[in-house]
Amino acid sequence: MATPVLDKVEAESAASPYITVTFRIRRFNPEVSDEAQWQDFRIDIDPKERVLDGLHKIKWELDGSLTFRRSCAHGICGSDAMRINGRNRLACKTLIKDINPSKPITVEPIKGLTVQKDLIVDMEPFFQAYRDVMPFLVTSGNEPTRERLQSAEDRERFDDTTKCILCAACTSSCPVFWNDGQYFGPAAIVNAHRFIFDSRDEAAEQRLEILNDKDGVWRCRTTFNCTDACPRGIEVTKAIQEVKRALITRRF
Ligand code: SF4
Ligand code: F3S
Ligand code: FES
Repeated sequence: MATPVLDKVEAESAASPYITVTFRIRRFNPEVSDEAQWQDFRIDIDPKERVLDGLHKIKWELDGSLTFRRSCAHGICGSDAMRINGRNRLACKTLIKDINPSKPITVEPIKGLTVQKDLIVDMEPFFQAYRDVMPFLVTSGNEPTRERLQSAEDRERFDDTTKCILCAACTSSCPVFWNDGQYFGPAAIVNAHRFIFDSRDEAAEQRLEILNDKDGVWRCRTTFNCTDACPRGIEVTKAIQEVKRALITRRF
């Protein structure tokens, strides 16, 4: 006959939200080997938790050498973009229950950038392209006494591209960028768009000329991977098309 204590334990275990999940992670440590390899980790986790929680559990309880970037854990800082089950996503915005936890969950670094260790890639080429498009407001004089006014319609013109968090999920999902890392990539174009269509800015022509380069917007093949990958829901391909059109019409 079951004791009250055993009844309690069984009831708690039946109500436990935890399931056992396998994380299959692409590991790379240049100090150990030139080759990356897959490593499996089995953990118990609530499926309502996120992939980032699973990575933390592995790092804190099983293997402290597992290396990845993350900061805010709330989809704001853009530092934990990775390939999860073959698709670019933010680990902190991806729930375990949404990615079929009955099968191993594969986690790899984003593509097209040099892997430094495990899930960390060298982001410098990505940020260089961002810096190259002058991602800041340019004005010549006309200093306002209080603020630079803008109509709601003018603000709306570039609202979508203000949402970028520079996670690189778009650029690192673009086949053109995979083939040739010289391509500015969708994230840089999105951030150029944000200023080209800002009625207060005076350097749109300059930015358009920068993107008129052989490695600029014309390299885009309208593949839409970038739009599918963007965790902020930005219509990345549409923004690129608008920059292309502005280059032809010189209207922005
Ligand atoms: Fe990330 Fe979207 Fe910005 Fe690309 S456009 S860097 S996917 S937030
Ligand atoms: Fe690449 Fe996006 Fe163009 S995936 S080809 S930048 S539409
Ligand atoms: Fe900041 Fe995921 S940790 S966006």
